[in-house]
Amino acid sequence: MNCMNDNFGRIINYLRLSVTDRCNLDCSYCKRAASKSQTLMTLDEIQKITRLFAEIGIRKIRLTGGEPLTRTDICEIIYICKNTEGIREVAMTTNGILLSPEKAKELRNAGLDRVNISIDGLDPGKYKQIARAGSLTAALSGINASLAAGLAPIKINTVLMRGVNDGDIERFIALTDDRDVRVRFIEYMPMGGKAEESYISAEEVINARPWLKNHDKVEFICSVSQPFCNQCNRVRVTADCKLRLCLGNNLEFDLREMLLRDNAAELLRNAIAQKPQRGFCDGFVTNRGMGNIGG
Ligand code: 5AD
Repeated sequence: MNCMNDNFGRIINYLRLSVTDRCNLDCSYCKRAASKSQTLMTLDEIQKITRLFAEIGIRKIRLTGGEPLTRTDICEIIYICKNTEGIREVAMTTNGILLSPEKAKELRNAGLDRVNISIDGLDPGKYKQIARAGSLTAALSGINASLAAGLAPIKINTVLMRGVNDGDIERFIALTDDRDVRVRFIEYMPMGGKAEESYISAEEVINARPWLKNHDKVEFICSVSQPFCNQCNRVRVTADCKLRLCLGNNLEFDLREMLLRDNAAELLRNAIAQKPQRGFCDGFVTNRGMGNIGG
């Protein structure tokens, strides 16, 4: 099996594949531009991309969006990824709105291993205020459907926003009681939103609740206060088929063009080797919102 090291010795084995830039929600912090890609990746392109990335050393794929479940062929996508030689794990990040019990079972049967469900408020009005569509009830049902289908452990993703959802923290933690559910509080990253005003550090949240340090079902993603660039193992493919090497860097490569070449694997290795040592360096301004990269 091949293994890919970038120029800083990091092993790159994790691909976040954005299968659509469409979404059934419109979260205030997401800054997703209205559907830019006229032509989403076809199943054939996804197959080629997955094979190519597996060939150079990718072992885990996470399907992202937009909202991946807005694609009617999502089960075929999962099947293709999971059955590509070299790929060991296929996961998905979803808002859970379309996760009915039947859908969750179909996804599982197609080969999906796990889901992360993004929920940012636990009061129905608050949820609507942030998501500007959908409903809290539907998102919470999505958790139950995923558990029933065996997509566990379910991870709930919550972007911490001061004055918006910091009052819900205890309720988020209670969602993990007595079942295979964990919650991840994510620091608000400056990706074109009003992060500065709403940002709360994980440290502030933990200092106010010291018992969280030893809570086995609560995790903090400190991408802002303690970036984990030296351990980063991931690359991203956008819905319009561009390779992005780092959330905090605008460098991108056209994969459709790469796929046409006989030496596509070599070109891909050369591109990934250029992954920046760290992102969000002085003066960085993203040229894509989070929802047009895939998080
Ligand atoms: N900062 C941190 N996390 C974000 N997400 C989207 N935008 C941001 C941001 N600016 C989260 C989504 C999803 C995950 C893929 O990234 O809520 O859970």
